[in-house]
Amino acid sequence: MKTIYMDNAATSFPKAEGVGEAMADYINKGAFNVGRGGYEAAYLLSETVVETREMLLELFDAPYNTSLIFTQGATASINQFLKGLLCPGDHVITTSVEHNAVMRPLRYLESKGTEVTVVPCDGEGKLDTEDLEKAIKKNTKAVITTHASNVSGTLLPIGEIGEICRSRGIFYGVDAAQSAGVYPISMKEMKLDFVAFPGHKGLLGPQGIGGFAVRDELAEKLIPIFQGGTGSVSDSELQPEFLPDKFESGTLPLPGIMGLHKALLHLKKEGLEAKRHKEEALTTRFLAGLHNIPGIRVAGICDPQRIQERASVVSLDFLNYDNAFAAFDLEQDYGILTRVGLHCAPEAHRTLGTFPRGTVRFSFGPETTFEEIDFALRAIKNIAGR
Ligand code: ALA
Repeated sequence: MKTIYMDNAATSFPKAEGVGEAMADYINKGAFNVGRGGYEAAYLLSETVVETREMLLELFDAPYNTSLIFTQGATASINQFLKGLLCPGDHVITTSVEHNAVMRPLRYLESKGTEVTVVPCDGEGKLDTEDLEKAIKKNTKAVITTHASNVSGTLLPIGEIGEICRSRGIFYGVDAAQSAGVYPISMKEMKLDFVAFPGHKGLLGPQGIGGFAVRDELAEKLIPIFQGGTGSVSDSELQPEFLPDKFESGTLPLPGIMGLHKALLHLKKEGLEAKRHKEEALTTRFLAGLHNIPGIRVAGICDPQRIQERASVVSLDFLNYDNAFAAFDLEQDYGILTRVGLHCAPEAHRTLGTFPRGTVRFSFGPETTFEEIDFALRAIKNIAGR
Protein backbone atom coordinates (compact mmCIF):
# COMPACT_ATOMS: atom_id res chain seq x y z
CA MET A 1 0.00 0.00 0.00
CA LYS A 2 1.26 3.47 -0.91
CA THR A 3 1.91 5.86 1.97
CA ILE A 4 0.19 9.24 1.72
CA TYR A 5 1.76 11.86 3.94
CA MET A 6 -0.75 14.37 5.30
CA ASP A 7 1.07 15.60 8.38
CA ASN A 8 2.99 18.54 6.98
CA ALA A 9 1.98 20.75 9.91
CA ALA A 10 4.07 18.52 12.18
CA THR A 11 6.98 18.53 9.74
CA SER A 12 7.03 18.81 5.98
CA PHE A 13 7.83 15.85 3.77
CA PRO A 14 9.38 15.54 1.29
CA LYS A 15 11.98 18.19 1.99
CA ALA A 16 13.10 20.55 -0.76
CA GLU A 17 15.25 18.99 -3.44
CA GLY A 18 18.92 18.79 -2.45
CA VAL A 19 18.46 19.46 1.29
CA GLY A 20 19.67 16.02 2.41
CA GLU A 21 22.60 16.11 -0.02
CA ALA A 22 23.69 19.58 1.15
CA MET A 23 23.75 18.38 4.74
CA ALA A 24 25.57 15.16 3.91
CA ASP A 25 28.14 17.05 1.79
CA TYR A 26 28.88 19.37 4.68
CA ILE A 27 29.38 16.48 7.11
CA ASN A 28 31.36 14.32 4.69
CA LYS A 29 33.42 16.85 2.80
CA GLY A 30 34.48 19.34 5.47
CA ALA A 31 32.50 19.86 8.65
CA PHE A 32 34.48 22.96 9.65
CA ASN A 33 33.38 25.52 12.21
CA VAL A 34 32.63 29.16 11.51
CA GLY A 35 33.86 32.14 13.46
CA ARG A 36 36.56 29.88 14.89
CA GLY A 37 38.80 28.32 12.23
CA GLY A 38 41.20 30.80 10.59
CA TYR A 39 41.39 29.05 7.22
CA GLU A 40 39.90 29.48 3.78
CA ALA A 41 37.33 26.65 4.01
CA ALA A 42 35.92 28.08 7.26
CA TYR A 43 35.62 31.53 5.68
CA LEU A 44 33.77 30.06 2.69
CA LEU A 45 31.36 28.38 5.05
CA SER A 46 30.75 31.69 6.83
CA GLU A 47 29.62 33.10 3.50
CA THR A 48 26.90 30.45 3.24
CA VAL A 49 25.78 31.23 6.79
CA VAL A 50 25.59 34.95 5.98
CA GLU A 51 23.74 34.24 2.74
CA THR A 52 21.20 32.10 4.65
CA ARG A 53 20.60 34.95 7.10
CA GLU A 54 20.14 37.38 4.21
CA MET A 55 17.68 35.14 2.38
CA LEU A 56 15.59 34.83 5.54
CA LEU A 57 15.60 38.59 6.17
CA GLU A 58 14.49 39.06 2.58
CA LEU A 59 11.76 36.43 3.00
CA PHE A 60 10.36 38.30 6.01
CA ASP A 61 10.77 41.66 4.25
CA ALA A 62 12.71 42.89 7.26
CA PRO A 63 13.50 46.56 7.73
CA TYR A 64 17.12 47.69 7.66
CA ASN A 65 17.66 47.52 11.43
CA THR A 66 16.76 43.84 11.80
CA SER A 67 18.92 40.82 12.60
CA LEU A 68 18.47 37.15 11.91
CA ILE A 69 19.33 34.80 14.76
CA PHE A 70 19.60 31.03 14.39
CA THR A 71 18.08 28.79 17.04
CA GLN A 72 16.95 25.21 17.29
CA GLY A 73 13.49 26.18 16.09
CA ALA A 74 10.37 28.24 16.73
CA THR A 75 9.98 27.05 20.34
CA ALA A 76 13.50 28.15 21.28
CA SER A 77 12.92 31.49 19.53
CA ILE A 78 9.62 32.15 21.33
CA ASN A 79 11.26 31.30 24.67
CA GLN A 80 13.98 33.84 23.92
CA PHE A 81 11.43 36.54 23.10
CA LEU A 82 9.21 36.00 26.13
CA LYS A 83 11.77 35.14 28.80
CA GLY A 84 14.26 37.68 27.52
CA LEU A 85 11.75 40.52 27.69
CA LEU A 86 9.13 40.00 30.39
CA CYS A 87 9.69 40.71 34.07
CA PRO A 88 7.37 40.32 37.05
CA GLY A 89 4.80 43.12 36.88
CA ASP A 90 4.84 43.30 33.08
CA HIS A 91 1.69 42.44 31.15
CA VAL A 92 1.59 40.30 28.00
CA ILE A 93 -1.32 39.53 25.69
CA THR A 94 -1.89 36.43 23.59
CA THR A 95 -4.85 34.58 22.07
CA SER A 96 -6.80 31.43 22.82
CA VAL A 97 -5.54 29.57 19.75
CA GLU A 98 -1.87 29.40 20.66
CA HIS A 99 0.39 26.35 20.63
CA ASN A 100 2.10 25.31 23.87
CA ALA A 101 5.32 26.78 22.44
CA VAL A 102 3.70 30.08 23.43
CA MET A 103 1.41 29.04 26.28
CA ARG A 104 3.90 27.08 28.36
CA PRO A 105 6.57 29.82 28.56
CA LEU A 106 3.75 32.27 29.31
CA ARG A 107 2.33 30.13 32.11
CA TYR A 108 5.84 29.76 33.51
CA LEU A 109 6.34 33.53 33.45
CA GLU A 110 2.92 33.98 35.02
CA SER A 111 4.03 31.80 37.92
CA LYS A 112 6.93 34.25 38.41
CA GLY A 113 4.71 37.35 38.44
CA THR A 114 4.13 38.36 34.80
CA GLU A 115 0.48 39.17 34.06
CA VAL A 116 -0.94 37.16 31.14
CA THR A 117 -4.16 37.92 29.25
CA VAL A 118 -5.52 35.35 26.81
CA VAL A 119 -7.92 37.04 24.38
CA PRO A 120 -10.59 34.58 23.23
CA CYS A 121 -10.98 33.81 19.53
CA ASP A 122 -14.36 32.71 18.17
CA GLY A 123 -15.48 29.16 17.36
CA GLU A 124 -13.72 29.34 14.00
CA GLY A 125 -10.47 30.44 15.64
CA LYS A 126 -10.85 34.02 14.39
CA LEU A 127 -9.60 36.96 16.40
CA ASP A 128 -11.41 40.27 16.70
CA THR A 129 -8.61 42.81 17.03
CA GLU A 130 -10.92 45.11 19.02
CA ASP A 131 -10.90 42.51 21.80
CA LEU A 132 -7.12 42.53 21.74
CA GLU A 133 -7.02 46.31 21.80
CA LYS A 134 -9.37 46.38 24.80
CA ALA A 135 -7.02 44.05 26.71
CA ILE A 136 -4.11 46.54 26.50
CA LYS A 137 -3.13 48.06 29.84
CA LYS A 138 -0.55 50.58 31.02
CA ASN A 139 1.95 47.79 31.80
CA THR A 140 1.44 45.84 28.54
CA LYS A 141 4.92 45.21 27.22
CA ALA A 142 4.35 42.57 24.57
CA VAL A 143 1.81 40.81 22.40
CA ILE A 144 2.47 37.39 20.95
CA THR A 145 0.20 35.55 18.53
CA THR A 146 0.40 32.78 16.04
CA HIS A 147 0.04 33.60 12.35
CA ALA A 148 -1.84 30.40 11.45
CA SER A 149 -3.41 28.02 13.94
CA ASN A 150 -1.75 24.61 13.94
CA VAL A 151 -5.16 23.06 14.70
CA SER A 152 -7.68 24.80 12.42
CA GLY A 153 -5.36 26.65 10.04
CA THR A 154 -7.21 29.91 10.80
CA LEU A 155 -5.07 32.93 9.91
CA LEU A 156 -4.82 35.77 12.42
CA PRO A 157 -4.71 39.39 11.20
CA ILE A 158 -1.05 39.97 12.08
CA GLY A 159 -0.86 43.19 10.06
CA GLU A 160 -3.72 44.74 12.05
CA ILE A 161 -2.23 43.56 15.34
CA GLY A 162 1.16 44.94 14.31
CA GLU A 163 -0.40 48.31 13.58
CA ILE A 164 -2.11 48.43 16.99
CA CYS A 165 1.03 47.39 18.86
CA ARG A 166 3.37 49.82 17.06
CA SER A 167 1.01 52.74 17.70
CA ARG A 168 0.92 51.87 21.41
CA GLY A 169 4.67 51.23 21.80
CA ILE A 170 4.16 47.51 22.53
CA PHE A 171 6.49 44.85 21.13
CA TYR A 172 4.75 42.35 18.85
CA GLY A 173 6.08 38.85 18.23
CA VAL A 174 4.64 36.40 15.71
CA ASP A 175 4.83 32.63 15.89
CA ALA A 176 5.17 31.80 12.20
CA ALA A 177 5.52 28.04 12.77
CA GLN A 178 2.74 27.21 10.32
CA SER A 179 3.16 30.08 7.89
CA ALA A 180 6.85 30.78 7.23
CA GLY A 181 7.69 29.73 3.69
CA VAL A 182 4.03 29.65 2.59
CA TYR A 183 2.47 33.03 3.41
CA PRO A 184 3.96 36.45 2.72
CA ILE A 185 5.22 38.03 5.93
CA SER A 186 6.37 41.62 5.74
CA MET A 187 7.93 42.88 8.94
CA LYS A 188 7.98 46.34 7.37
CA GLU A 189 4.35 46.57 6.30
CA MET A 190 2.89 44.51 9.13
CA LYS A 191 5.00 46.33 11.71
CA LEU A 192 6.34 43.18 13.33
CA ASP A 193 9.14 43.35 15.88
CA PHE A 194 9.86 39.65 16.07
CA VAL A 195 9.16 36.61 13.88
CA ALA A 196 9.88 33.08 15.14
CA PHE A 197 10.17 30.36 12.50
CA PRO A 198 11.08 26.68 12.20
CA GLY A 199 13.20 25.47 9.30
CA HIS A 200 11.43 22.13 9.00
CA LYS A 201 7.85 23.03 8.13
CA GLY A 202 6.83 25.36 5.28
CA LEU A 203 10.44 26.18 4.47
CA LEU A 204 10.99 22.47 3.64
CA GLY A 205 14.30 22.34 5.50
CA PRO A 206 15.56 19.96 8.19
CA GLN A 207 14.55 19.68 11.85
CA GLY A 208 16.77 21.25 14.48
CA ILE A 209 17.25 24.59 12.73
CA GLY A 210 15.06 27.67 12.90
CA GLY A 211 15.43 31.10 14.29
CA PHE A 212 13.98 34.55 14.66
CA ALA A 213 14.14 37.88 12.94
CA VAL A 214 14.28 40.71 15.47
CA ARG A 215 14.27 44.49 15.15
CA ASP A 216 17.29 46.02 16.83
CA GLU A 217 15.09 48.16 19.06
CA LEU A 218 13.69 44.99 20.63
CA ALA A 219 16.97 43.05 20.50
CA GLU A 220 18.62 45.72 22.67
CA LYS A 221 16.03 45.06 25.38
CA LEU A 222 16.16 41.26 25.24
CA ILE A 223 18.32 39.45 27.77
CA PRO A 224 19.88 36.38 26.14
CA ILE A 225 18.68 33.18 27.80
CA PHE A 226 22.01 31.49 26.96
CA GLN A 227 25.50 32.84 27.41
CA GLY A 228 28.70 31.26 26.09
CA GLY A 229 31.43 31.25 23.48
CA THR A 230 30.73 33.16 20.30
CA GLY A 231 34.16 33.15 18.64
CA SER A 232 34.17 36.94 19.09
CA VAL A 233 35.68 39.22 21.80
CA SER A 234 37.29 36.15 23.29
CA ASP A 235 39.31 38.28 25.72
CA SER A 236 36.08 39.05 27.61
CA GLU A 237 34.08 36.88 29.96
CA LEU A 238 30.99 38.98 29.26
CA GLN A 239 28.46 38.14 26.57
CA PRO A 240 28.79 40.43 23.52
CA GLU A 241 26.00 42.96 23.11
CA PHE A 242 26.23 42.99 19.30
CA LEU A 243 24.14 40.86 16.97
CA PRO A 244 23.85 38.03 16.15
CA ASP A 245 26.46 37.01 18.77
CA LYS A 246 24.37 38.23 21.70
CA PHE A 247 21.92 35.37 21.08
CA GLU A 248 24.13 32.75 19.40
CA SER A 249 26.34 31.09 21.98
CA GLY A 250 28.08 27.83 21.14
CA THR A 251 28.70 26.26 17.76
CA LEU A 252 25.95 26.94 15.25
CA PRO A 253 23.82 24.01 14.02
CA LEU A 254 25.74 24.04 10.74
CA PRO A 255 24.35 20.88 9.09
CA GLY A 256 20.90 22.39 9.60
CA ILE A 257 21.97 25.74 8.19
CA MET A 258 23.41 24.03 5.10
CA GLY A 259 20.10 22.23 4.62
CA LEU A 260 18.07 25.38 5.21
CA HIS A 261 20.28 27.29 2.77
CA LYS A 262 19.43 24.76 0.08
CA ALA A 263 15.73 24.88 0.99
CA LEU A 264 15.69 28.69 0.71
CA LEU A 265 17.34 28.57 -2.71
CA HIS A 266 14.65 26.12 -3.76
CA LEU A 267 11.91 28.41 -2.41
CA LYS A 268 13.35 31.36 -4.32
CA LYS A 269 13.32 29.32 -7.51
CA GLU A 270 9.83 27.90 -7.07
CA GLY A 271 8.28 31.09 -5.63
CA LEU A 272 6.26 31.53 -2.47
CA GLU A 273 3.12 32.50 -4.39
CA ALA A 274 3.09 29.36 -6.51
CA LYS A 275 3.57 27.20 -3.44
CA ARG A 276 0.76 28.91 -1.55
CA HIS A 277 -1.61 28.74 -4.51
CA LYS A 278 -1.00 25.02 -4.82
CA GLU A 279 -1.73 24.47 -1.13
CA GLU A 280 -4.82 26.67 -1.33
CA ALA A 281 -6.12 24.71 -4.29
CA LEU A 282 -5.59 21.40 -2.46
CA THR A 283 -7.33 22.68 0.67
CA THR A 284 -10.24 24.13 -1.31
CA ARG A 285 -10.80 20.77 -2.98
CA PHE A 286 -10.58 18.98 0.35
CA LEU A 287 -13.07 21.32 2.07
CA ALA A 288 -15.47 21.12 -0.86
CA GLY A 289 -15.37 17.32 -0.72
CA LEU A 290 -15.90 17.27 3.04
CA HIS A 291 -19.19 19.16 2.60
CA ASN A 292 -20.80 16.05 1.15
CA ILE A 293 -19.68 13.69 3.89
CA PRO A 294 -22.06 13.11 6.80
CA GLY A 295 -20.73 12.25 10.26
CA ILE A 296 -17.83 14.69 10.39
CA ARG A 297 -17.31 18.28 11.48
CA VAL A 298 -14.52 20.59 10.37
CA ALA A 299 -13.05 22.43 13.36
CA GLY A 300 -12.88 26.04 12.19
CA ILE A 301 -13.57 27.52 8.78
CA CYS A 302 -15.18 24.89 6.55
CA ASP A 303 -16.38 27.01 3.63
CA PRO A 304 -14.03 26.44 0.64
CA GLN A 305 -14.88 29.97 -0.58
CA ARG A 306 -13.10 31.36 2.47
CA ILE A 307 -9.72 29.88 1.62
CA GLN A 308 -8.04 33.28 2.07
CA GLU A 309 -8.83 33.08 5.79
CA ARG A 310 -7.14 29.76 6.42
CA ALA A 311 -4.01 27.70 5.86
CA SER A 312 -3.72 24.12 4.59
CA VAL A 313 -4.28 22.55 8.01
CA VAL A 314 -7.69 20.91 8.38
CA SER A 315 -8.89 19.32 11.61
CA LEU A 316 -11.80 16.86 11.56
CA ASP A 317 -14.01 15.60 14.32
CA PHE A 318 -15.60 12.22 13.53
CA LEU A 319 -18.99 12.53 15.18
CA ASN A 320 -19.94 8.85 15.41
CA TYR A 321 -16.50 7.28 15.68
CA ASP A 322 -13.53 7.76 17.97
CA ASN A 323 -11.02 10.16 16.39
CA ALA A 324 -8.06 8.04 17.50
CA PHE A 325 -9.59 4.97 15.82
CA ALA A 326 -10.25 7.05 12.71
CA ALA A 327 -6.58 8.08 12.49
CA PHE A 328 -5.53 4.48 13.09
CA ASP A 329 -7.85 3.22 10.34
CA LEU A 330 -6.63 5.94 7.96
CA GLU A 331 -3.13 4.57 8.28
CA GLN A 332 -3.91 0.86 8.50
CA ASP A 333 -6.51 0.68 5.75
CA TYR A 334 -5.47 3.53 3.46
CA GLY A 335 -1.83 4.38 4.21
CA ILE A 336 -2.80 7.98 5.09
CA LEU A 337 -0.64 9.58 7.79
CA THR A 338 -2.29 12.26 9.93
CA ARG A 339 -1.92 13.63 13.47
CA VAL A 340 -4.66 12.93 16.02
CA GLY A 341 -5.21 14.43 19.47
CA LEU A 342 -4.82 17.90 20.90
CA HIS A 343 -1.82 19.00 18.82
CA CYS A 344 -0.04 20.65 21.80
CA ALA A 345 -2.75 23.32 21.77
CA PRO A 346 -5.42 22.55 24.41
CA GLU A 347 -6.85 26.08 24.52
CA ALA A 348 -7.19 26.12 20.73
CA HIS A 349 -9.26 22.95 20.97
CA ARG A 350 -11.41 24.49 23.72
CA THR A 351 -11.95 27.49 21.44
CA LEU A 352 -12.95 25.27 18.53
CA GLY A 353 -15.18 23.07 20.70
CA THR A 354 -13.07 19.94 20.31
CA PHE A 355 -11.60 19.61 23.80
CA PRO A 356 -10.88 17.08 25.25
CA ARG A 357 -11.51 14.59 22.44
CA GLY A 358 -9.26 16.35 19.93
CA THR A 359 -9.36 16.00 16.15
CA VAL A 360 -7.77 14.16 13.25
CA ARG A 361 -5.60 16.72 11.51
CA PHE A 362 -4.81 16.64 7.78
CA SER A 363 -2.11 19.03 6.60
CA PHE A 364 -0.94 19.35 3.02
CA GLY A 365 2.34 20.33 1.43
CA PRO A 366 3.45 21.37 -2.05
CA GLU A 367 3.96 17.75 -3.07
CA THR A 368 0.48 16.61 -2.05
CA THR A 369 -1.52 15.71 -5.16
CA PHE A 370 -5.19 16.23 -6.05
CA GLU A 371 -5.51 12.44 -6.47
CA GLU A 372 -4.34 12.01 -2.88
CA ILE A 373 -6.94 14.55 -1.72
CA ASP A 374 -9.70 12.63 -3.52
CA PHE A 375 -8.44 9.35 -2.12
CA ALA A 376 -8.42 10.82 1.41
CA LEU A 377 -12.00 12.06 0.94
CA ARG A 378 -13.14 8.56 -0.03
CA ALA A 379 -11.32 7.11 2.98
CA ILE A 380 -12.92 9.69 5.33
CA LYS A 381 -16.38 8.91 3.93
CA ASN A 382 -15.92 5.19 4.53
CA ILE A 383 -14.58 5.69 8.05
CA ALA A 384 -17.23 8.23 9.03
CA GLY A 385 -19.89 5.68 8.11
CA ARG A 386 -18.47 2.97 10.41
N1 ALA B 1 3.70 21.96 16.32
C1 ALA B 1 3.69 20.85 15.44
C2 ALA B 1 2.32 20.34 15.16
O1 ALA B 1 1.39 21.09 15.21
C3 ALA B 1 4.66 19.80 15.80
O2 ALA B 1 2.15 19.18 14.88
